Amino acid sequence: MIRIPEPELMEKPSQVKAYAEADFGSGDKDLIIRLKKFIADIGRNHDSITRIIDLGCGPGNISERLALQWPEAEVLGVDGSKTMVEMARFRKKQHQMKSESLKGLKYFLADIALIPKNTSLIKGPFDVVVSNSLIHHIHRPEIFWEAVKCLSSPGTIIFHKDLRRPASMKEAFELQRKYLPKAPEILVKDFLASLQAAFTCKEISFQLRMAGLDKVKVIEQEERYLQINGIF
Ligand SMILES: C[S@@+](CC[C@H](N)C(=O)[O-])C[C@H]1O[C@@H](n2cnc3c(N)ncnc32)[C@H](O)[C@@H]1O
Repeated sequence: MIRIPEPELMEKPSQVKAYAEADFGSGDKDLIIRLKKFIADIGRNHDSITRIIDLGCGPGNISERLALQWPEAEVLGVDGSKTMVEMARFRKKQHQMKSESLKGLKYFLADIALIPKNTSLIKGPFDVVVSNSLIHHIHRPEIFWEAVKCLSSPGTIIFHKDLRRPASMKEAFELQRKYLPKAPEILVKDFLASLQAAFTCKEISFQLRMAGLDKVKVIEQEERYLQINGIF
């Protein structure tokens, strides 16, 4: 199926609210488990991770989990949507009221595409550059991978998870029926649009090669995801 990009930023308040209220808990937990395993597998000490950036952080679901896993680290969630960043900051306050320590967590409003043009926008390097469900939004992947490189230094762990594009709309509908059988209409619409906008393994592999990220690999994960990981 041909890729149909969707808008990069999620800015509509109704869309942000539906997204923030959706339960992505098991997928988010899975990302953290896989990231921790990757860090252990490459022989890196958990506590050596002191700076993490979560690109396209949305309402902060992954950033919060990162901050809880690495309570001593600086975790920076970045999103280009003001509505999302406001939602993420609001959720952080709610967590703190429950006295969950998110002291290292900060959010920053910025379009990732500006990072290569303005390297002082976000001060790198980071120990981990992570994203979840962001890459399918990206219109110019070559700029995205440039941004990842700007935020890295030798040894930085690069870790991304995203949907992958199915072969046909028939497959997309099957995935929707299987994984979002009772979701609100707005989320079902977003999910189908995201599947159409997602990249294939082959496309990401080509992007990584073009970006010179030779130590970063992409693999298919379960029925609908891609996992991209490696070291800068
Ligand atoms: C599907 S959400 C994912 C949110 C979160 N990472 C998660 O795991 O659920 C994608 C987010 O990426 C943001 N985004 C897309 N393109 C972006 C860009 N070029 N710069 C900054 N943020 C971007 C959108 O605004 C949206 O909040």
